[in-house]
Amino acid sequence: MSNIVYLNGDFVAAADAKVSVLDRGFVFGDGVYEVIPIYSGHLFRLNYHLKRLNDSLNGVRIENPLSTSGWAEVLTTLIDNNGGGDQSLYLQVTRGVAPRDHRFPQNTPPTIFAMSNPMSEPSAELKAGIRAILVEDIRWKLCNIKAIALLPNILLRQQAVDAQATEALMYRDGLLTEGSASNLFVIKDGIIVTPPKSNLLLPGITRDLVVELCDNHQIHCEQREISVKELENADEVWVTSSTKEIVPVIEIDDIKVGSGIPGPVWKRLITLYRDYKNQFRAGNVQ
Ligand SMILES: Cc1ncc(COP(=O)(O)O)c(C=O)c1O
Repeated sequence: MSNIVYLNGDFVAAADAKVSVLDRGFVFGDGVYEVIPIYSGHLFRLNYHLKRLNDSLNGVRIENPLSTSGWAEVLTTLIDNNGGGDQSLYLQVTRGVAPRDHRFPQNTPPTIFAMSNPMSEPSAELKAGIRAILVEDIRWKLCNIKAIALLPNILLRQQAVDAQATEALMYRDGLLTEGSASNLFVIKDGIIVTPPKSNLLLPGITRDLVVELCDNHQIHCEQREISVKELENADEVWVTSSTKEIVPVIEIDDIKVGSGIPGPVWKRLITLYRDYKNQFRAGNVQ
């Protein structure tokens, strides 16, 4: 069965979906996106993703082209067309097609694109923990917007790959921000800490779910600034994202984190996270 995508109102085979070379997403990286996991054919934490999409669109002054129910209908139809089950859904909205000019075009409809692909459970490699590098955050100061222009993230991720690592952890002015495609948690003496939401990091949906799970299970979790120095004494470090869930970082710049294996606090949280996911699959939570 060929993969179906959604483009500007139509569901078409991926090979038949065509966008103009003058699309501002292509020419300027002028657009925003979301990635939503699908479990057992259902969109996980959909309303949180749509709220963040709306915030991103507001942040770049593109009018949201669809209502919440409109998005839900489009995305659900797409998932069904691609066979349900577990998928990873990507959607993006750009400022549309117009002659190349930095100024916003007038009366130009946005380009709406969505695709979904099969997704498997996080690999054994991720569960065993990953290596990371520590790098300066070279991005702009609107990192709360999920912008499609990802060149700094791409350069830093490749720097990690070149160093035989999986993720680049970033800092700005001596404070940790997040990973190149993930949020960051640091654990010391059983206390879980993650940087507070600000314009310097993406408000991750997985991050928020981890904080929520901690709240619901009386686990001490703080949202505060974390200095780079605190990494040296950390017992555990994790990164989180929608498709990778909660991933232990066991080595940073060739130095072991704690004892160099996934720690007990991670085991507790990943169990709670998986339980929550199973409840979602069973239709017991949103
Ligand atoms: C820069 C950045 N931070 C954090 C995240 C994690 O966000 P979420 O949990 O919503 O997937 C991502 C996800 O791709 C990201 O690109």
